[in-house]
Amino acid sequence: MHFTTAFLAAASIPLSLAAATATPGSAPQPGLYEAIHQRENILAYTLDTKDYARLGESVTNDVVYDSRPLGPDYGGLSVGLKQLTDNVRAAFAGAKVAHHVSNAIIVPHKDGKAANVTTYIVWSRWDAAALHDVKKTFRIYERCDDYFVVDKADGHWKLKYSLVTNLAPKVEQPYFG
Ligand SMILES: *[C@@H]1O[C@H](CO)[C@@H](O)[C@H](O)[C@H]1NC(C)=O
Repeated sequence: MHFTTAFLAAASIPLSLAAATATPGSAPQPGLYEAIHQRENILAYTLDTKDYARLGESVTNDVVYDSRPLGPDYGGLSVGLKQLTDNVRAAFAGAKVAHHVSNAIIVPHKDGKAANVTTYIVWSRWDAAALHDVKKTFRIYERCDDYFVVDKADGHWKLKYSLVTNLAPKVEQPYFG
């Protein structure tokens, strides 16, 4: 009898876990940490494919993006989704861009609705017509001190605040300098 009770209790664990992460007929959903990881990756993909109309799926309407520490040739301050979209569109114009998102340290707030996130990003920009101009073709090893929140409107984790600094003394001319 004890065996049966213990067995049933043990057997119910995987069933209840399965129920929490996947409902029949719908895709499994990530937990908080992976949801933020995925959002960071989706944001990078949105930027690299220049799919600017979709930026609002990954950043809040009142986003503050502050990359002024990178210097006036490489960074700036954007307040709000519209200004961020305009500035990013201008910054990437005429170039190929790639954002490689790597180390992410995610510190959730107690309510599970916000998180402090420190992320390293390697940002490469290539202007095929100006491969030797370090203002147009360069690589930056960025540290991003970010604040992510759950947007009540659609339930997505979104970037609300980002402070971007350069891990290196200056930008790099990776191949063409
Ligand atoms: C998040 O970062 C802010 C600003 O640095 C800090 O005041 C706060 O304590 C941090 N929250 C957590 C949960 O680490």
